[in-house]
Amino acid sequence: MGLNYYHIKKNILRARRLVIKSTSIAGSGHPGGSFSMAEIMGCLFYKFLKFDPSNPSWEDRDRLVLSKGHASPGLFSNMAVAGYIPESELETLRKFGSRLQGHPDLKCPGVEFCGGSLGTGLSYSIGVALAAKMDNKDHHIYTIIGDGESNEGQIWEAAMTASKYKLDNLTAFLDRNFIQQDSYTEKVMPLDEELRDDNISEMWKDASRWKTGDKWRSFGWNVIEIDGHRIEQIDLAITKAIAAKGIPTIIISRTIKGKSIEHMEDNPEWHGKAPNPEMVPLINLELDSQFMIAPSIIAGDMTNLENEVKRCVHGRADYIHLDVMDGQFVPAKTFDYNKIKELRSLTVIPFDSHLMISEPVKHVKDYVEAGSDIITVHAEVCDESSFGEINDLLKQSQVSVGLAINPDTDLPEWSYKFLPTLDQLIVMSVFPGKSGQKYITETHEKMNKLKSILKDHKFTGYIEADGGINLENIGSCFEDGARAFVGGSAIIGQPDVREAIREFRNQVLKTRRKTLIKKAHQLGGSDLVHKWIGLHVVGKKKEQITKIAQEEGFI
Ligand code: DX5
Ligand code: ZN
Repeated sequence: MGLNYYHIKKNILRARRLVIKSTSIAGSGHPGGSFSMAEIMGCLFYKFLKFDPSNPSWEDRDRLVLSKGHASPGLFSNMAVAGYIPESELETLRKFGSRLQGHPDLKCPGVEFCGGSLGTGLSYSIGVALAAKMDNKDHHIYTIIGDGESNEGQIWEAAMTASKYKLDNLTAFLDRNFIQQDSYTEKVMPLDEELRDDNISEMWKDASRWKTGDKWRSFGWNVIEIDGHRIEQIDLAITKAIAAKGIPTIIISRTIKGKSIEHMEDNPEWHGKAPNPEMVPLINLELDSQFMIAPSIIAGDMTNLENEVKRCVHGRADYIHLDVMDGQFVPAKTFDYNKIKELRSLTVIPFDSHLMISEPVKHVKDYVEAGSDIITVHAEVCDESSFGEINDLLKQSQVSVGLAINPDTDLPEWSYKFLPTLDQLIVMSVFPGKSGQKYITETHEKMNKLKSILKDHKFTGYIEADGGINLENIGSCFEDGARAFVGGSAIIGQPDVREAIREFRNQVLKTRRKTLIKKAHQLGGSDLVHKWIGLHVVGKKKEQITKIAQEEGFI
């Protein structure tokens, strides 16, 4: 089965928006810690957890215990997206009589544990895991604990117990966001090494300073350390945890408190504070503006694609864009699914396979089996029936579905019916066939025309800009609505892929900030612009955004 990447990603976005809606209406709550565990929750709810929302007490369900109970908005929003409760009920968060309180309790269907007094959820999970073993049941127990919560002695008592009883049906996640109630964890009670200063990101980068895992290993646990916001890494870690026998697993997930909203990220202020309702439209726009960078490896050494993939991994690419050309749909030939199969074992980074092949319906299964995570076929060689077949096969295989159109092709009307569930739309800005071509500027106009069609047909996927993307045009491609950016010569063609990807990201970030400032000005003039900028208190963000606002004449 595939990663189900976009299915998970789209639901995570829905859940994050519900966290913002519910906490801003309630005027209180914990968005920061709900966002740091958002991808973990997404992988659990939309891929691994066995549950039935219509039968919450199904005895063979997997159990999800939120030990860090204050992040209840993060739990409730995913339970709503997963179908336990109506999404509208999130508007009752923390109100008298509501089933959704500041900490989860059993009044809400699907809640397994009354979280809140920190440190007890892991012990409770052990009890449930022990009971399952005694009853010869094979459901799995997942529990999410906080790093601040690890100050509680009961966590360590529970850690000893779980390994004593070899509870391999128990998987814990440590939401390692380095921030607790009122400061940085490493200042209150270090789990890793002491912080040298408030710049948590330096702790992220230096794995030699990560000591938390050693503590859990010494307590007899199987330890997996991941980037807690990478769906593909969470997916692999859970798979490994389920396979581990005779030992409990903890997945130490390096996360960012407030992840996805710049002014909340790594900011202790947002541990337990609700967003101001006037900021919600800006926050939602920022949530809709998460973006991905996808290097195209055919721009590199075609005789050593393994090395090109390794360069993408080192460069921290979000996807790896694989341009398959069969010499029929386009004159050039690159590689086929056999090469993809070879490359697959090198990394779990999502393979974004762009099939420039004729009769894709005949071959797409080979690309699923080769390990593609996203498969995009060209509208020029499909019709409603063949694309319907491709769509069904990919959905069943948990592979994300993409459709591509050439510069001289409009989105065909037969495709409109697929738009509500289509994951990716590639709008080619070069004629397919090779990398290193110049961006066709008429694409901007085409993207603008597309916007209304996509809106009318409830497209909730991601637009991928592909062809001639570089630092000069990526900002305007973002403004056109693209959220995934393919870089061939502008990334893989560069000597330092990591630097090139960093520059791509910075350029998109600058454009996104400009878009948000413009929106703030539309909504509330320079007064709201100043308020919005004022929220960005961590690092150099405030001066960077102020500069953009001044350059654009909004302040
Ligand atoms: C062209 C491919 C593109 C191309 C991108 O047929 O679909 O992905 O490799 O390379 P650049 O960014 O150099 O145009
Ligand atoms: Zn491509």
